[in-house]
Amino acid sequence: MAVERTLSIIKPDAVAKNVIGKIYSRFETNGLKIVAARMIHLSRQEAEGFYAVHKARPFFKDLVEFMISGPVMVQVLEGEGAIAKNRDLMGATDPKKAEAGTIRADFADSIDANAVHGSDAAETAAVEIAYFFPALNVYSR
Ligand code: PPS
Repeated sequence: MAVERTLSIIKPDAVAKNVIGKIYSRFETNGLKIVAARMIHLSRQEAEGFYAVHKARPFFKDLVEFMISGPVMVQVLEGEGAIAKNRDLMGATDPKKAEAGTIRADFADSIDANAVHGSDAAETAAVEIAYFFPALNVYSR
């Protein structure tokens, strides 16, 4: 399987719960390496830009409000099949539907505050990594 890079965000709810280390440990014990990281408090403009693809969705406003409600931890994960692996570790968007042992099942409270974001495909990973880490090579060292 190819070595990939993917963008991960630990959202304001999980940062407030003080579980960054526990989530990082899930990445590391499952073969995902943290190759870049930043803690940031997103501006409204940054959050709206990041989620622009969801602009027409009914939850867009709430999603943006939530994402600017506190600091987030943004990281680039690298590993074999990193995009799908991270999505598996995250679990379903709605924590009530997330499989036991996934990050969302263990740390998220609701579909609005669901602890983590992960790129869903190679094309989105490239765009999302460049959004937060413009100087980083998206695909490899
Ligand atoms: S996903 O995870 O992208 O496959 O899920 P999707 O359903 O396409 O949702 C896109 C992002 O919107 C978030 N979301 C919501 N936020 C607030 N309220 C509701 N009801 C809601 N439903 C979905 C979801 O967590 C996705 O954000 P990210 O940051 O990608 O996880």
